[in-house]
Amino acid sequence: MATIVSNGYQSGFGNEFASEAIPGTLPQGQNSPQRAAHGLYAEQLSGTAFTAPRHGNRRSWLYRIRPAAVHAPFRPLAHAGLHNRFDEAPATPNPLRWDPLPLADAPTDFVDGLVTLAGNGGAGEQAGIGIHVYTANRSMQGRFFYDADGELLILPQLGRLRIATELGVLDVEPQEIALIPRGVRFRVELLDDAARGYVCENFGALLNLPELGPIGSNGLANARDFLTPHAAYEDVEGDFELIAKFQGTLWSAKIGHSPLDVVGWHGNYAPYKYDLRRFNTIGSISYDHPDPSIFTVLTSPSDTPGTANLDFAIFPPRWLVAQHTFRPPWFHRNVASEFMGLITGVYDAKAEGFVPGGASLHNCMSGHGPDAATFEKASAADLAKPDVIGGTMAFMFETRKVIRPTQQALASPQLQANYHECWQGIAKHFHPPQA
Ligand SMILES: [Fe+2]
Repeated sequence: MATIVSNGYQSGFGNEFASEAIPGTLPQGQNSPQRAAHGLYAEQLSGTAFTAPRHGNRRSWLYRIRPAAVHAPFRPLAHAGLHNRFDEAPATPNPLRWDPLPLADAPTDFVDGLVTLAGNGGAGEQAGIGIHVYTANRSMQGRFFYDADGELLILPQLGRLRIATELGVLDVEPQEIALIPRGVRFRVELLDDAARGYVCENFGALLNLPELGPIGSNGLANARDFLTPHAAYEDVEGDFELIAKFQGTLWSAKIGHSPLDVVGWHGNYAPYKYDLRRFNTIGSISYDHPDPSIFTVLTSPSDTPGTANLDFAIFPPRWLVAQHTFRPPWFHRNVASEFMGLITGVYDAKAEGFVPGGASLHNCMSGHGPDAATFEKASAADLAKPDVIGGTMAFMFETRKVIRPTQQALASPQLQANYHECWQGIAKHFHPPQA
């Protein structure tokens, strides 16, 4: 099968983009002329309600070789690891931690290698998230995928990916993220021998940049660092498969051509990528450790102001300079629930056990924080000197709803049986003044 390559990127977040792989593809002054240029079909792809407020309205017009309707009927497709059954096991207040999924020996592409660890809500209620991990050792061959249930936030941890979508090509590597909008068809190719990473499936409102409030008009993730592909297409016919994720399960349909046949498009509903290393990290320069919301890259709002369906936050390299302060993240309990992963390096609140490709889950009101070794070290640190945290990239999916691990995640050999022990060595230091 032909492989399309990136035609480059357009900069900005949620902009009204326009791109054509062949000059003269896009109509001028209207969206659907009686006959589109070059014998193409015009098709609108809506990512929000037609009548959503203008500032949040997302749609794009695609000019393509065949409309998206041209394929055989879908039939159910079994998948061993990917689902949205978040009620099949009791949610637990215990902190949980997993080692990385081992890489597969058998031929495994991105779709084959998806495993659902946890989640909440679902496509039916248009709220919540699914949390998945993937491993792969080969490109998707003759098959294409789309998710009708939510947008997909993909975080490679090992190996570079070429994500060929209807609207163009995203090349991403570890420490970059890719966002595939709900419904957009794509193929994942491996640019290295093996791949592993995390996927957050967002059933709720589209991820957006957070408000900056008193921070001002710059900072955190800057809009100009988000990159949306230019149009790129392939004109290929063959015996292919189109896989849909629809209401929590997979469906398969035969398709006689590549659906990556969009020659030009315009609009503001499109894939994008972002390099997490470009995040402008902001923190305390006096005392105390800010809430982790200061590290929010993207947020999916819920119907309650300030209470997100999903906050995607990162813990990147940064300086710690706060005085009179316990510098690592403090001990805490949270009404929200927190799933964490690690792309590379070491996370500053744990001495060991939380490794790249692994994961942890701290649910609503479950106490957690630095382990015993980290507490003792940070309590005795010389605060006259700044600390630098380098070479690391941890992330968190924080949700307003409890994150429910799946049965397969709870039964996984990667689940660490002794995670709770990291806090059991915390010493009693209480010494009330003697009368
Ligand atoms: Fe936490």
